[in-house]
Amino acid sequence: MARNSVFILALMSLCIGLAAADWNILSKKSKNRDASSLKNYCESWRINVELNNIKDFEVVPQECVDHIRHYMTSSQYTADSERAIEEVRLYLSSCCSLEGDGKDAWIFDVDDTLLSTIPYYKKHGFGGEKLNATIFEAWMKQSKAPALDHALKFFHEIKDKGVKIFLISSRSETLRSATVENLINAGYHGWSGLTLRGLEDDFMKVQQYKSEARRALTKEGYRIWGIIGDQWSSVEGLPSARRTFKLPNSMYYLS
Ligand SMILES: *[C@@H]1O[C@H](CO)[C@@H](O)[C@H](O)[C@H]1NC(C)=O
Repeated sequence: MARNSVFILALMSLCIGLAAADWNILSKKSKNRDASSLKNYCESWRINVELNNIKDFEVVPQECVDHIRHYMTSSQYTADSERAIEEVRLYLSSCCSLEGDGKDAWIFDVDDTLLSTIPYYKKHGFGGEKLNATIFEAWMKQSKAPALDHALKFFHEIKDKGVKIFLISSRSETLRSATVENLINAGYHGWSGLTLRGLEDDFMKVQQYKSEARRALTKEGYRIWGIIGDQWSSVEGLPSARRTFKLPNSMYYLS
């Protein structure tokens, strides 16, 4: 008798299990469901890149290239970037007692902070292809990268407040004249320094190279009130700034 009830119980739970499996939403496969879980997957990938949980990726996962292309060319990307700059303005309105002695400083990245590389990545798979440095440098030499409008506007606002602007970029020193020309074409002028990577910096990781560049500024007595960059390597490491701001970029990762 006892053995029988165990058997019946086992049979019942098996049936319940099967019925439950039938109602398990995850087991319901349809085309739409696949598309929406891919979208969720790729958006999670993107947000975890921004959160710096996913580091050092070489290329955007192939199945997410379309998602990243869509985001980087969307009004959402523009809105996200504009919001970041709005937060910078809010911070600046109360953070800092600017002394106006020529030692108040602000740091910007160049690529995908002041200038957009999206026209390049449009032709090169939005980060889905491994970067070919030769082709990328040839593109940068054309000095055609457009400005990010919200960054351009902010650049001039802060310059007009008397803050010294320093550009610290991981571009090579050999691209100096092309970079200056591009910045001017795009509407930037009046920066106080443009640091580019020389041969001696090549053995360093970008993050270390950028920290060293900031150290040189603090040694000269500059107070670095903020950094705006699209890479974590632009804001990590010491010395830092009073506050740092990250712009979205899920096409590539520089460490
Ligand atoms: C980069 O592109 C150039 C020009 O197309 C090609 O000759 C070279 O082999 C490429 N380099 C790599 C590492 O793929």
